[in-house]
Amino acid sequence: MATSTEKNIAVHSLIENRWSPRAFSSETVSEEQLASLFEAARWAPSAMNEQPWRFIYASKENGEDFERLFSCLVEGNSWAKHASALFVTIAKKNYDFNGQPNGIARHDVGLATANILLQATDLGLHVHLMGGFNAAKAQDVLGIPEGFEPVAMGAVGYVGDPESLPEALKERELAPRQRKPLNEIAFKGVWAQK
Ligand SMILES: Cc1cc2nc3c(=O)[nH]c(=O)nc-3n(C[C@H](O)[C@H](O)[C@H](O)COP(=O)(O)O)c2cc1C
Repeated sequence: MATSTEKNIAVHSLIENRWSPRAFSSETVSEEQLASLFEAARWAPSAMNEQPWRFIYASKENGEDFERLFSCLVEGNSWAKHASALFVTIAKKNYDFNGQPNGIARHDVGLATANILLQATDLGLHVHLMGGFNAAKAQDVLGIPEGFEPVAMGAVGYVGDPESLPEALKERELAPRQRKPLNEIAFKGVWAQK
């Protein structure tokens, strides 16, 4: 269901084919596939090569671990229960080399997460990221130490049947994808007023 409102400029198929489903099939994602997602994250660039990203993940087969991660999500993200795996992204707040705050840590966690999304797409998988989760609860129940903070969560799996979703979610699943036009987001030289 990867449709776009603007198709005139080509982008890589890994970018074009990535999207965020809510319906996941029951097909499972292997430990090897999950490892390759985090391996892709490992090779992301970061300020001072700090690599401030950390991840906690669990697949459906790790019943209790999966449930623990799932329990951190807000109710609106309940569809994630049908994903094959869940993960949380975590940022290390201070630089290793001088202990000072790393103001760009969350940015770099985002870069690493983008690698996960592209690697997943290459494997025929989809990842749906979620900001709708209880970060304080995640910090507590997942044993995330001081100095680190949860950033986002992700649901991983194979795309499922939209018919399996409740009506409202099904509508969103099937709606055309929307993006701002290019001239609203990229300006040549200086900020361009509309
Ligand atoms: C950091 C982040 C947080 C998000 N949080 C949620 C969320 O809590 N629940 C949800 O259903 N989708 C969430 N999304 C998915 C976005 O809604 C989705 O990426 C956006 O609508 C664009 O659609 P696409 O990913 O299919 O291109 C989140 C995406 C990102 C990157």
